[in-house]
Amino acid sequence: MADQVEEVKQKTDIVTLIGERVKLVRAGRNFRALCPFHSERTPSFMVSPELGIFKCFGCEKAGDAFTFLNEFDGMEFPEALSYLAKRAGVRLEPLRKGRDYKKKERLWEVNHLASEYFHYLLVTHTVGQRAKRYLSERGIRKPATQMFKLGFAPNSWDGLIRFLVGKKRYKLEELLEAGLVVKGKKRNYDRFRNRVIFPLRDVRGNVVGFAGRILPGREEERAKYINSPETVLYHKSKHLYGLHENRSAIKKKDQVVVVEGELDAISSWQAGVKHVVAVKGTSLTSEQVELLRRYTRNVILALDADAAGDAATKRGIAIADSALLNIKVALLSGGKDPDAVAQDNPKKWHQLVDRATSVYDFYIKSARQRFDVASGLGKKQISEELVPLLSKISNAVERAHYIQKLARLLDVSEEAVMDEVARFERTAALGEGGVLPQPPVSGEEEKKDRRLLLEEYLLSLMLQGGTQAISSLDDFEASDLVHPAVRRIVRSALAKAGDSFEAGSFIASLPAELHSLAQTAFLHDISDIPSTPDRLIQEVEQVVHELRQLRLREQLASLSSKIGVLEEKRKPTDAEQQRFDTLRQEFSELSSKLSH
Ligand code: CTP
Ligand code: MN
Repeated sequence: MADQVEEVKQKTDIVTLIGERVKLVRAGRNFRALCPFHSERTPSFMVSPELGIFKCFGCEKAGDAFTFLNEFDGMEFPEALSYLAKRAGVRLEPLRKGRDYKKKERLWEVNHLASEYFHYLLVTHTVGQRAKRYLSERGIRKPATQMFKLGFAPNSWDGLIRFLVGKKRYKLEELLEAGLVVKGKKRNYDRFRNRVIFPLRDVRGNVVGFAGRILPGREEERAKYINSPETVLYHKSKHLYGLHENRSAIKKKDQVVVVEGELDAISSWQAGVKHVVAVKGTSLTSEQVELLRRYTRNVILALDADAAGDAATKRGIAIADSALLNIKVALLSGGKDPDAVAQDNPKKWHQLVDRATSVYDFYIKSARQRFDVASGLGKKQISEELVPLLSKISNAVERAHYIQKLARLLDVSEEAVMDEVARFERTAALGEGGVLPQPPVSGEEEKKDRRLLLEEYLLSLMLQGGTQAISSLDDFEASDLVHPAVRRIVRSALAKAGDSFEAGSFIASLPAELHSLAQTAFLHDISDIPSTPDRLIQEVEQVVHELRQLRLREQLASLSSKIGVLEEKRKPTDAEQQRFDTLRQEFSELSSKLSH
């Protein structure tokens, strides 16, 4: 088993694996990307094809292909192993799986069978006719029905129970755990009855839950939608409807349109705007944003044009903004939702998405709808809401544009709006006294940091530069290095000088506690120095030189403080006088060394 894991790892090209999910750019011997796991503007996520590992120098997430699949796709070990084995063409011996995973696997199976059952009843069985007619009245055609595997839950208390427990021999407990069945006082019954069914799939396509929409005519009596409860598989705030189905379209477009409901997403897909997901009636959560970030950073919010949609859009903007995503808003008018626009006029839906505006246009429109622009009070309310937002625009031209727009809307002079923005900034600045100055860094600490950085950099140059870099260090004393772990690695590498150096096997030969530091040094991005042998050796010499200088300076500093103490003495003893002279002597020798 351990052998098989090793074999799968060996045969997995981590650059291809990660490259299918994240845009990688070559950087020397490694590859670089914007980290898919945290917000950043400059790339610090590194992948090494030789070592088969990745590391983000910003958020510190690091590991191998298994770790990556776990973090990125939420695959647990057994699943990742069979996924990678399949890609690599390795036949796995049957293996024992963890109890939790086995349970999840059972529940995926139960849900999958339930989705087949619902789908069959909608598409083929006569019991689904009314639901089928309803969907077709709403303009949903066959390809969409297939793609999203729509279904129908019949009007029966135990249709699903009879199928899954009676026929397929699953346990009632499992149906309860999957959220398919509700525990009643007298008896257990199917949760979804007489409803159109939308299977909810996770990113990899496992069915994790369901949503059910009531058929027309009963809307008044019952909730229009019911959903699976939170289960071990389904967490509403971490789920995005349509992400599995549309993730490649999202990646390809490098953009995602976020809509409110299942039918909005499906109609959008059908109209050809396939890079779409639905939040299912809530506002975008930070977990959902993290999920999206793996595919794109460009988000278009297209939530309903009602008050709830307006509030949800504002929360979504705040969350996506704090995660450094680029957000735009598709402005829907006339109280229509995306489903209606995409059904009535697919071309218009494309346009609305293409012409999504900046969030500021959205804020202005939102305020205009809620306040009376004609009255003095209304103008004050609008300006109080918008001024703080506009003051945040950092680009002066963009800011001037919106100030002008707001002034026109309120029918006042631009100066009046500018005055308000300036006034807001003054009070905001006063209120911000909480920002503490950075604690001063003492010269000593600064030097220590500098030294550590230099030592680690030297290590990166050696491991990535290989034989050439290492042999240029033949007269270097590893004992001059202060950081013990760096010293140990450099020492082992120097001992290998002369042999041809291969980073992977070298790192593997180190004691386990040094692996992580060595891997980090190997992944460190040094691609800004040209990799010609001359430049590399020059860089190594430069670092060694700087390290020597630092060491001399440190020695000088310690000598001079000792000398200082002796100088204070009014009546030094002979021994002290002698020591003073020796120290002075050493000091002048060191300083002349330093100046050469
Ligand atoms: N929703 C939900 N649970 C509810 C109500 C709503 O999950 N009890 C979600 C559904 O995903 C639904 C979305 O919120 O699609 C929007 O709800 P609503 O505005 O009520 O949907 P409509 O657009 O009116 O519904 P439809 O298009 O299906 O007629
Ligand atoms: Mn709708």
